[in-house]
Amino acid sequence: MNPDNILIVPGGKVTMWHTILMFGGKNSEIIYPNPGFPIYESVINYTGAKAVPIKLDNKTDFNINVKALNDLITKKTSLIILNSPSNPTGGLISKKDMDAIVNILDQHPHVHILSDEIYSRIVYKGNQFTSLLSYPNIRDRLIILDGWSKTYAMTGWRIGYSVWPNKYVKMSERLNINSFSCTNAATQYAAISALKGPQDCVENMTNIFEKRGKMVFKELNSIEGFTCNSSKGAFYVLPSIKKTGLTSDQLQDFLLYKLGITTVSGKSFGIFGEGYIRISYANSEENIKEAIFRIKNYLKKKSWADAKN
Ligand SMILES: Cc1ncc(COP(=O)(O)O)c(C=O)c1O
Repeated sequence: MNPDNILIVPGGKVTMWHTILMFGGKNSEIIYPNPGFPIYESVINYTGAKAVPIKLDNKTDFNINVKALNDLITKKTSLIILNSPSNPTGGLISKKDMDAIVNILDQHPHVHILSDEIYSRIVYKGNQFTSLLSYPNIRDRLIILDGWSKTYAMTGWRIGYSVWPNKYVKMSERLNINSFSCTNAATQYAAISALKGPQDCVENMTNIFEKRGKMVFKELNSIEGFTCNSSKGAFYVLPSIKKTGLTSDQLQDFLLYKLGITTVSGKSFGIFGEGYIRISYANSEENIKEAIFRIKNYLKKKSWADAKN
């Protein structure tokens, strides 16, 4: 990879915003994961492009249905967005599925790809992260989104990077200069220190997330009405809450306003997120245990049906 293809930007979101702006617009269609990071759909709609969701489902462990993806591609498809490991599902695209997706892309040379790899370093044991950069045949239409926010817990520093094909890198650079000029110099020095410093902190943090993730998975599955898949990376689980009889928004609001627990309604991640709530375990084990205790304690005295009122 040539350094000339890499742009330093103020956070991962900038890459998302600029890529969708470049490939969106009235006559294009953009395929994106749903439930998925909400900004994808929001920016696609902003550009006037048609937002085409690819449904992710807990019954298939939130894997991408490669055949369904193929069926969604039309002559107007300008961009496919992939995100692995995923926010909000905690899912991961396996090497086998990635190979199959790239095979499909080979048959549709007009389609560009935005691969959101922001959680690339937070992958749990027994799972293998596959970067789309490892497929040279699609390099000339692949944009990679990554950064420091998750790997080094540097969200507030606002720094990320993108990898662009030769054809688009200058265009993207111009967009960057026109919108934010450059990335704050002090932040860039901090990012260099993060890269040059010891890396065991990343592994330690990932191990802690993995341990917490297992605890959350076990505890949530013991709550009546919840069905939780185990997370393969990032720091999220997206339990199905359909059996509680509440909508995602109802449960989110109940947990927040009555029990003091912050979650995010699955609906915030797209229409196929209804019936789920997202739980982030980027919080202390102590706080997570307290949250679980409050839910279980509530259910000792009352039922989910009471939460509707
Ligand atoms: C899937 C995904 N992509 C991108 C981002 C944005 O990262 P940043 O904070 O670097 O803008 C996030 C942040 O939550 C995310 O979950």
